[in-house]
Amino acid sequence: MLVLGIESSCDETSASVVEDGRTIRSLVIASQTEIHARYHGVVPEVASRAHVEHIYPVVREALSEAGLEPGPHATTVDAVAVTNRPGLSGSLAVGLTFAKTYAFAAGLPFIAVDHMKAHAYAPHLISGEEGAPALEYPYLVLLVSGGHTMLAVSRSHDELDVLGTTIDDACGEAYDKVSVFLGAGYPGGPVIDRLAETGDARAATFPRPRLTHAASEYDVSFSGLKTAVVHQLDRFWNPAFPRTPENLAAAFQDAAVGMLMDRVERAVRATGIRRIAAGGGVAANRELRTRLHNLVVDGGPVTAILPPPELCVDNGAMVAGLGYHSLRAGARSPWHTGVSARVAGFRAATSPPRGGRGERH
Ligand code: KG4
Ligand code: ZN
Repeated sequence: MLVLGIESSCDETSASVVEDGRTIRSLVIASQTEIHARYHGVVPEVASRAHVEHIYPVVREALSEAGLEPGPHATTVDAVAVTNRPGLSGSLAVGLTFAKTYAFAAGLPFIAVDHMKAHAYAPHLISGEEGAPALEYPYLVLLVSGGHTMLAVSRSHDELDVLGTTIDDACGEAYDKVSVFLGAGYPGGPVIDRLAETGDARAATFPRPRLTHAASEYDVSFSGLKTAVVHQLDRFWNPAFPRTPENLAAAFQDAAVGMLMDRVERAVRATGIRRIAAGGGVAANRELRTRLHNLVVDGGPVTAILPPPELCVDNGAMVAGLGYHSLRAGARSPWHTGVSARVAGFRAATSPPRGGRGERH
């Protein structure tokens, strides 16, 4: 079954054709990074307008790259999947409206999917001939981008048990703000990643808050770290080191990635699950990838499954892949389906017991 997946929840317009939920036949991603750079962040109204401009050419290109024709022809896809939650309402509405219209006009089944579940599904995708082994459920999944920060257990394509989220800024947002402070531009993640390579993390010891009440064992907070870097550098700087952008980047990154790794290690211990996948733009971070690949908990290795960067960022392939499983299970979305900016369960209700389940979303 060929599914056309459409993604427009934030600042990427993407479309992809995926076969049987696994093999990517085409993937097109139009990023708006340059458009938002002058504002140092994503401006929702600007994003929606850019989606309106990009959606038609992006879908057309994805279909033609897959050797298909748009419209009700024998050579089109078998179904259409689209992200309708969570995200920026105006941005979501562009992709959703396009997907519904296309599916209705072409007489195709249509399914709306959850963006976080789609990210969690991304490690199952392969492109072309490579025959990667199937990733077994359950696995832990760390989703970190400019808009979201979440640690969860993926139990099936449709079951994502949220362990923890951020209580304030998203991880990528902290990277972006620190980068603006350094005058290094937007988006900040790749710049700080590169600067940190030649810096010394011992140059500053930034706070790494740990939330201690029962429901927040896996939650993170990045706002204190950002404040420490931007407003309290004197307090945390180690005078034995020169105040270079490289040293600052390395110390910040050590604290940011260290907080994420602390939660991942706890989750491995508490759930006994020794497979971890990652997604979101920050999953491209070299330090995070290295630490996940080398992770050892209580003397035992943990297998890290880290998709290539184009499948970590927002993309239509993860939407098509997840949509395939829902469609195959008989699910269809009604034509009056709307968008949701938020979904329930972003916060874990209670800390799950070993192997247990947190709140679903
Ligand atoms: O998933 P994404 O492309 O878009 C959304 O936010 O939805 O993620 C973008 C975020 C930005 O905050 C960017 O600074 C961050 O991911 N990022 C990185 C790296 N590459 C991108 N953060 C840390 N290290 C990187 N190498
Ligand atoms: Zn995303």
